[in-house]
Amino acid sequence: MSYGLSAAAFGGAFSTATRPAWRSAVPARCSLAAADSVSAAAPILRDLQMKCATPLPVLRHVADALAADMRAGLAADGGGELKMILTYVDSLPTGNEAGLFYGLDLGGTNFRVLRVHLGGKEKRLLDTEFEQVSIPQELMCGTTEELFDFIASGLAKFVQKEKDKFGPPKGREREIGFTFSFPVKQTSIDSGILIKWTKGFAVSGTVRRDVVACLNEALKRQGLDMRVSALVNDTVSTLAGARYWDDNVMVAVILGTGTNACYIESVDAIPKLQGSTYQSGKTIINTEWGAFSNGLPLTEYDRAMDCESINPGEQIFEKTISGMYLGEIVRRVLQKMAEVSTMFGDSFPQKLSVPFVLRTPDLCKMQQDDTKDLNEVEFILSDALGVKSSCLGSRRIVTDVCDTIVKRGGRLAGAGIVGILQKLEQDFKGSIFGRRTVVAMDGGLYEHYPQYRSHLKEAVTELLGEEVSKNVIIEHTKDGSGIGAALLAAANSKYST
Ligand code: BGC
Repeated sequence: MSYGLSAAAFGGAFSTATRPAWRSAVPARCSLAAADSVSAAAPILRDLQMKCATPLPVLRHVADALAADMRAGLAADGGGELKMILTYVDSLPTGNEAGLFYGLDLGGTNFRVLRVHLGGKEKRLLDTEFEQVSIPQELMCGTTEELFDFIASGLAKFVQKEKDKFGPPKGREREIGFTFSFPVKQTSIDSGILIKWTKGFAVSGTVRRDVVACLNEALKRQGLDMRVSALVNDTVSTLAGARYWDDNVMVAVILGTGTNACYIESVDAIPKLQGSTYQSGKTIINTEWGAFSNGLPLTEYDRAMDCESINPGEQIFEKTISGMYLGEIVRRVLQKMAEVSTMFGDSFPQKLSVPFVLRTPDLCKMQQDDTKDLNEVEFILSDALGVKSSCLGSRRIVTDVCDTIVKRGGRLAGAGIVGILQKLEQDFKGSIFGRRTVVAMDGGLYEHYPQYRSHLKEAVTELLGEEVSKNVIIEHTKDGSGIGAALLAAANSKYST
């Protein structure tokens, strides 16, 4: 069986829908019989905790292996699990960029359009406007033309709302920074070939095609006179957007529906460039770290989820740490528990067998539940999984399962960040740990899940030690990506001299 993506797993919108006050129909405390039923699930929890444990040696292994894999991927294409993609970005925003630019962002459950009016060194951002549209589920597994027509028509509607004073000078096309958040083999700053879809997308006919050409064709069908000046990954636009304000930004990480990281690399440290020249001596590398897998503490639940996914054997780090998957891993554990115990009552809740029915935001809400009887947990079990009755002991087990999976995810993400920093520090001693270094972070998982955030930060501190970790600032840069894409369009404008 194979499944697609069903939910806004944690990419953007964090549902704030209110619910009716929830009252338990059963006594909150466990009866003796209930305690018995819970005890059958306890060994499964213990086994899970053991297999998901990420003590310091595991974290260290992950950080070291990631750094080694980065080097292998920089040496040759296909040298390691990490693709270490050249982005063709060699000049970062300076602050001098001026004019009207568009950003278009496709990467998860939503796509966004953005208009930025840049005012140069003194005035910086004069105006920004954006709109967000969620991508209908059927388009995520439809055809290339359907997906790109949908995007182009959204863009066309947005352009119509442009105020006259902001239009481009006569004779100039509007320029777009296109953030396309999937693995793309860039062929230049404004072209690139899709390597594979991730995050549940399975659109036919796009793999191995230039996604800018796909967009241009759709723009033409819409009668839109615009051109893509920069094609970038979301990590890259996040880095560019954050760097606009802060010169110490060296790395950008996305932790949302999917995950990835990019960083500023010295051209001399990229053997596969084979002598190509870059003006600034630096470039941004898109690691595509979601593909990493070496030494990750995985369980039978992860393996089964991977086997049944639309991309088995791929994106294992992403499947362990990102928002699309955490809820699904927890669901699989609870399903196993419900099969061997009566922790959710005498009859097996049928909804519990539906892939992706439990979403990462649900885990987050359950972990924020500070009521004595875990009423929110009870509500979500009933609402999302159709559990008719649960005692307090069962609900505690559920939150422990959430904590186990979320803790592993957050700590491994922290180890990944340290892996990148450590690689840079090894190349140029003191360049990272000896001064303030900023990691720009975006994505709903990091933004909305406090426990995940703390586990990540804890792992970074454990690995680097108190002193060094004071120099590493993980800064949430919400929406930096849209502006970053527009800035990169400006930096690569065909009208710039
Ligand atoms: C993609 C990356 C992207 C990340 C975050 C991953 O699935 O492969 O290109 O940066 O998601 O959106």
